[in-house]
Amino acid sequence: MSYNIAIDGPAGAGKSTIAKLIAKKKGFIYVDTGAMYRAMALYFLENGISAEDQDKISAAVQNADVTISYENGEQVVWLNGRNVNGLIRTEEVSQMTSKSSTNGTVRKKLVELQQALAKKENVVMDGRDIGTCVLPDADVKVYLDASSHVRAHRRYEELKAKGEPCDLAVIEKDIIERDYRDMHREISPLKRAEDAQYLDSSDMTIEQVADAIIKMCDGGL
Ligand code: DC
Repeated sequence: MSYNIAIDGPAGAGKSTIAKLIAKKKGFIYVDTGAMYRAMALYFLENGISAEDQDKISAAVQNADVTISYENGEQVVWLNGRNVNGLIRTEEVSQMTSKSSTNGTVRKKLVELQQALAKKENVVMDGRDIGTCVLPDADVKVYLDASSHVRAHRRYEELKAKGEPCDLAVIEKDIIERDYRDMHREISPLKRAEDAQYLDSSDMTIEQVADAIIKMCDGGL
């Protein structure tokens, strides 16, 4: 039986950084489910499909083959045989993803892929619906949170380090908008699973959060 750790939470709470670190420490595979939704959204953008046209999105899903593989421990996302890792982190893709991931056909296809992976491998999987929907029987479930201000600050520092022009107030507004959409959509909205441990990372270091989660695994919680 594989061992599964589920980490959910809003954008910028530190899920991927923490999940990667835990995966490294425990020798597990890190599964970034957001990247799969992003690859799907990139397909819709590249094919001129509007986020508002849910019927077109549902019909197009069968033409978008999303798979993942691992190279030197890093997850690589493939869209119809093309490595799209370098294309899915733009603001345009983020906004489209938050809209297209409300679509039931998109979610069904990607949830099946995620469940198959978790069945085969020990995984740390992060997303919005992992503890509630994808892996309801996960061995450890965490809801990782941080204030929108702290999350906007983290994103701002990331962009500044890359030399990209950015405005803290605009970033915070985008984060709040995305949270609202992710938490209020009809299918699998972002919410804390009843049996998930709540962790607020606002005043914690990456190491502190990762250690707290590893303790939950050791404690059999
Ligand atoms: O974690 P992220 O920022 O890469 O996620 C991008 C978007 O994908 C986010 O707005 C919500 C959506 N998403 C989702 O609906 N379900 C998941 N399991 C992961 C991400």
